[in-house]
Amino acid sequence: MKSKIINFLEKKNKSKIVCLTSYSKSIAKILDDYCDLILVGDSLGNVLYGMENTHKVTLEMILRHAISVKKGVKKSLCIVDMPKNTYNNSRDAKKNAKKILHITKCDGVKIESNKKNYSIIKKLVDSKIAVMGHIGYTPQYEKKFKVSGYSKSDEAKLIKEAKEIERAGAFSIVLECIASQTAKKITRLLKIPTIGIGSSRNCDGQILVTDDILGLSGFYPKFVKKYINLSKLIAKNIKKYRKEVKEGKFPKRTNSF
Ligand code: KIV
Repeated sequence: MKSKIINFLEKKNKSKIVCLTSYSKSIAKILDDYCDLILVGDSLGNVLYGMENTHKVTLEMILRHAISVKKGVKKSLCIVDMPKNTYNNSRDAKKNAKKILHITKCDGVKIESNKKNYSIIKKLVDSKIAVMGHIGYTPQYEKKFKVSGYSKSDEAKLIKEAKEIERAGAFSIVLECIASQTAKKITRLLKIPTIGIGSSRNCDGQILVTDDILGLSGFYPKFVKKYINLSKLIAKNIKKYRKEVKEGKFPKRTNSF
């Protein structure tokens, strides 16, 4: 049987690749029918834990959520974000990536680029660990949001970075908030699939934070499309539940023993 990674790679130039984040089994189970890749993103720091950024997300936190997500996934590629400071050198990276894959049974890890950690990616790939790269806006290494790739020199730097990551053996790469034309060039130049977030339709696939597109996170920058306002829908139904409890209409006899 062909590996999930090979199947994923073969989608480049054939069909657009659909990716989303999940932090739990219940959401992963729904996404699995529609996604090629499900990411246990360290965005859970902001989205679930109310942190200011992803910098304090720990290995234990990501492990707990990845275990849950994997339980809901049958067919999609399941990738886990390595939290900040868990891959500062090759030895830590290998130890922690192995721990993640052993405990969660997920398919690979994602590592944000700091323009220096190519040898860490290579070391992991040499140890048969599937690695997804991440360039452009890399929240673990930045304090302020930025879009990159507008200027020629910025474009050249991003192309170099993407090529280095491909050369190190990554199976795919996330392009976060990169100018459309630069994303297009990177996508053309690489053999591995590029997955865009805020980087235009010129990428091989797209990823977004599921809570953002469902209207649950309250975070709606330009690159997010809110497909539904679940917060509103939940509030409406919780209000109904509250009313029924207050009025003694719930539980009914049919809900009782
Ligand atoms: O942490 C995350 O959710 C991510 C993606 C949105 C790419 O890195």
